[in-house]
Amino acid sequence: MTDFPTNERQTLEVARASDVVRARQLGHDLAQAMGFDRGAQTRIGTAISEITRNALRHSGKVGTLSLEPIVRGGRCGLRIVVSDAGCGIANLASVSQGAARSVMSLGAGLPGARRLMDEFEVETHAGQGTTVRMTQWLPPGSASLTGAVAAAATIG
Ligand SMILES: Nc1ncnc2c1ncn2[C@@H]1O[C@H](COP(=O)(O)OP(=O)(O)OP(=O)(O)O)[C@@H](O)[C@H]1O
Ligand SMILES: [Mg+2]
Repeated sequence: MTDFPTNERQTLEVARASDVVRARQLGHDLAQAMGFDRGAQTRIGTAISEITRNALRHSGKVGTLSLEPIVRGGRCGLRIVVSDAGCGIANLASVSQGAARSVMSLGAGLPGARRLMDEFEVETHAGQGTTVRMTQWLPPGSASLTGAVAAAATIG
């Protein structure tokens, strides 16, 4: 089914630790404005925090967060894309199972974020970078699509 973007995309560069905090807050606020309940707001903020922190800590390059309300099949959702042009994830299969981790960490960030989101996919190429695409859907009928999109447009 086709995803329809809404032209209300917001982007944020992730170059330092304070940007991870800003990214989490932006996602949380956008989710709230779109009508996500508090649990979903927290899940979205946490997933954004984990994935942007990964880009910052592991990729060796600046990351970019993109947030965009989308419509698919009459439902409204929030699509979150975190990309970097860094080293890539060498062992994606074991990372996805939580079996890979860096020193002083749990290796739970990426698989944890996957569990929090409705849709989650990772594209990574050695030496070229990583893109993580995540989507969270509003429950059907929970908010008018135009209302959610209009609310999202007021955040920034
Ligand atoms: N954007 C990225 N670029 C390069 N490598 C990455 C990227 N994201 C994740 N990785 C690799 O995947 C591993 C697992 O990531 P994950 O977030 O699950 O755990 P962690 O960051 O090591 O620890 P935690 O998130 O629990 O503090 C990382 O240790 C790193 O090697
Ligand atoms: Mg991590």
